[in-house]
Amino acid sequence: MAPKKLYIKTYGCQMNVYDSERMAEAMGGEGYETTERPEDADMILLNTCHIREKAAEKVYSELGRYKGLKAARPDLKIGVAGCVAQAEGEEIMRRQPMVDLVVGPQSYHRLPEMEAKVRTGGKALDTDFPEEDKFDHLKGRPKAKRGPTAFLTVQEGCDKFCAFCVVPYTRGAEVSRPADRVLTEARDLVERGVREITLLGQNVNAYHGHDGGLAGLIHALAEVDGLERIRFTTSHPNDMDEALIEAHGTCDKLMPYLHLPVQAGSDKILKRMNRQHTAEQYLRLIERLRAARPDLHLSGDFIVGFPEETEADFQATLDLIEAVEYGSAFSFKYSERPGTPAAERPQVPEAEKDDRLQRLQALLTKQQRSLQDAMVGRDVHVLFEKPGRLPGQMVGKSEYLHAVHVETSGIVPGDMARIRIESSGPNSLKGVMSPL
Ligand code: 5AD
Ligand code: SF4
Repeated sequence: MAPKKLYIKTYGCQMNVYDSERMAEAMGGEGYETTERPEDADMILLNTCHIREKAAEKVYSELGRYKGLKAARPDLKIGVAGCVAQAEGEEIMRRQPMVDLVVGPQSYHRLPEMEAKVRTGGKALDTDFPEEDKFDHLKGRPKAKRGPTAFLTVQEGCDKFCAFCVVPYTRGAEVSRPADRVLTEARDLVERGVREITLLGQNVNAYHGHDGGLAGLIHALAEVDGLERIRFTTSHPNDMDEALIEAHGTCDKLMPYLHLPVQAGSDKILKRMNRQHTAEQYLRLIERLRAARPDLHLSGDFIVGFPEETEADFQATLDLIEAVEYGSAFSFKYSERPGTPAAERPQVPEAEKDDRLQRLQALLTKQQRSLQDAMVGRDVHVLFEKPGRLPGQMVGKSEYLHAVHVETSGIVPGDMARIRIESSGPNSLKGVMSPL
């Protein structure tokens, strides 16, 4: 029998990227192979994000686009997975009767049986938070070769309850995967060609599946032969313990790039966001991290226009950014999420949010560019990932996560080399093999 085709569209964070891979693998066991073309698919699965309003609305407009396909081929099954599924499961089925299946992020291991149910004409909805670990119940990953970098989810959920955020509601309480399972999966990835693993979690540095916390897990992973690089994302400042700070100085395989969101620079706003730390505490933490690893590049997330943010509060965010100097960052206009405490507070006008976002992004872009330009003349270590756009060119990432283009022969994906940076463009660096 010809394999059935599965089209998965992934929105949102890297954890969804990882989940989509695992869902594709689970459905592989049910005779599905993935396709890049929705029009060829027997099943379309949208793996959704609920973090901001726009993200959720995108799902409904995407579903609208499949109406014609579904009318022409009633056999086509349409599923919604991810955080919108978790938050609005029944509502989705009501609003879009063409949806056959709704599955929340903790129930992906039940996807094959749900698929069987919808094949026979039923509807399936599962947004439970089951006791069992979905990753244990998902089929083992196939042994196929894969690229040099991979995501590996080690922790899910969040207990922090920042006042703007839906994650504690959609992904539930913090859960860590046991270290031995993570290590087994990591060894398997390495056997299949992976050289760099990014450990994922909504609040990854709260990881407690190893006695030594996330630092313990990182040190254990560093013992895996053939694994060259370790990264982790995303972290909360209050879970940055001493051992993890130290690991940045002592573990060679841990890359000198850290995503450590602060969201805002005003203590009043941080308090209202329920971040549980001040701007000063965040800055002191950065100092300690830089003492452990002086060349550390920092990345962050920022929200502008949080309820009751004044111009002076916003200025405090700009001041904090000036003090830190970020290598990269993500910034967002505050988006009201029903059911979260901040949604009930007096809102900042949209035009004000737009203006602040522009000013914030101008500053962050300037910093990003100046740190990137400062790489010119220096040597970096590049892990090559794929051919570049130009013939004979390869692209990889430096330890600081800069994209680096090199024109060279004899390098294949997965190779690492010391590269001397010669120029810096808008989004990437160019270099040559270092003479050293
Ligand atoms: N509005 C805007 N941005 C948000 N984020 C989370 N919730 C919201 C919201 N309601 C941002 C935060 C978080 C990132 C993943 O998304 O900056 O760190
Ligand atoms: Fe959301 Fe992150 Fe805050 Fe948790 S720590 S509530 S995931 S922003």
